[in-house]
Amino acid sequence: MAKINKHTESMYFLDALNLFVEMQWLYNTPVTDLLTKGLLDLFPKEWLNDLQMLENEELNDFVVKRTTKPEWSKSLKVFVKKCISADQLPAINTVLPTILPKNFQIGLSCKKQHEIIHLAHLVHVQCTSQNIKIIVDLGAGLGYVCQLLYHLYGYQVLGLEKNQANVNNARNRQIKLYPDSLAHVKYNCCDLACNSVEIIETILNNEFQKNSNVCLIGLHACGDLSVHASKIFRDMKRARFFIMIPCCYHKLLTTKDITINISTEKQYFNNFPLSNCLKTVINNTDFDIGTFLRRPFLRLACQEPADRWYNMSIKAHNEHSFYVLARAVLQLYATKNGFVLQKKTQKGTRKSQCLDFETYVNDSLNRYILQPQEKGKLQNDMQSNLDMHKKNIIELWRNHCHKLKIVEIYSGLQLMLQAPAESLILRDRLCWMKEQGLKTKIIPVMSKHLSPRAYAIVSQKE
Ligand SMILES: C[S@@+](CC[C@H](N)C(=O)[O-])C[C@H]1O[C@@H](n2cnc3c(N)ncnc32)[C@H](O)[C@@H]1O
Repeated sequence: MAKINKHTESMYFLDALNLFVEMQWLYNTPVTDLLTKGLLDLFPKEWLNDLQMLENEELNDFVVKRTTKPEWSKSLKVFVKKCISADQLPAINTVLPTILPKNFQIGLSCKKQHEIIHLAHLVHVQCTSQNIKIIVDLGAGLGYVCQLLYHLYGYQVLGLEKNQANVNNARNRQIKLYPDSLAHVKYNCCDLACNSVEIIETILNNEFQKNSNVCLIGLHACGDLSVHASKIFRDMKRARFFIMIPCCYHKLLTTKDITINISTEKQYFNNFPLSNCLKTVINNTDFDIGTFLRRPFLRLACQEPADRWYNMSIKAHNEHSFYVLARAVLQLYATKNGFVLQKKTQKGTRKSQCLDFETYVNDSLNRYILQPQEKGKLQNDMQSNLDMHKKNIIELWRNHCHKLKIVEIYSGLQLMLQAPAESLILRDRLCWMKEQGLKTKIIPVMSKHLSPRAYAIVSQKE
């Protein structure tokens, strides 16, 4: 039977909630609004005094290793301590060598190769102990891990995927690259929900004609899929093992949104919080989680981890802070003058934009339209307007460009909250599984450097 230490779990949840209520100024507003919402003015003065002095290497160590100095202000050291204790995810294990056969490398990035080899290894280790021979991959995409599980270990694999184009693609790859797997690896189109047990059973019986136990897996099952999968696992008798690597927490669906204005919109989600334990802790406080555990919180949880700053060069920091601040200046100009920035193209920032602000503005005004907020207000004489806007935006930049270092410190502090945020989401799911009587743990599967969503929720029925 799954054991939960309710007291410890509740204490952890309460501490994490307190941390996110207190630190919401670091993540609850998009960084594009850094200046419009005056987020940099919310910095405790003593934090800035301590952090602005840091050399590049020291700032990296502060963010990645959470290194502090004895002479720093108490409140900053307390923040770091809280980040450390709110990160309850296990450390990453050693990484396996990732050399795949040639026909498994085709079209696969190093990241994807790394992911499938690590997940396949974990699945095999777990399934061997229970003599499980059939795997069901939920949200199989193009079937990369399905094919590898058959190739390396001989499993029969059913890949379920809601997107028909992906299913076709997976089948075409199979015919072309792995024809000898056709009788063993099957792909079916299926939009999975928490009540999909029966349909999965039917497909399994059609494809494999064996009524043996199965292991449910998912590699980067996005949004609600990973939660649906947990419920499928709970309800499906034949499913004895569950290995789920979730991702894209920000794609979770909301139950209700209460909009006052877009930046203060309250958001509540169907599948977060999930566990009774976290829900009870929240009910026992005055916190309105719709105000601070909103989509920006979920986005924070699925950002790249703080390790991204490991050995980050001064040049890379400069480019990053330039881009963040320049975009914020553009936003400030638009907001102050009654415009909204409307994207003309989906193209991201080009490297050349990071050279100087004038180039950045020229490029940006090609990519965005300054659209008057008041409908029907037409802009006449477009070219002279554009020249005027450029001049004014450059002037505004001059007033703000001294904030580059502060912007980078802000980003670093935000990054330090990523692991606590992901930890809160995964611990809530872990707790829910245990509440359902399922023996469950979180296992680190991959290198966070290569693949930021590196944790699997692993469960086993006794
Ligand atoms: C991030 S991709 C990962 C694909 C694959 N597992 C991999 O790692 O290469 C998530 C996949 O889940 C599929 N998906 C999302 N929701 C689903 C659902 N409710 N039922 C079935 N598939 C779903 C998406 O279409 C997408 O192919």
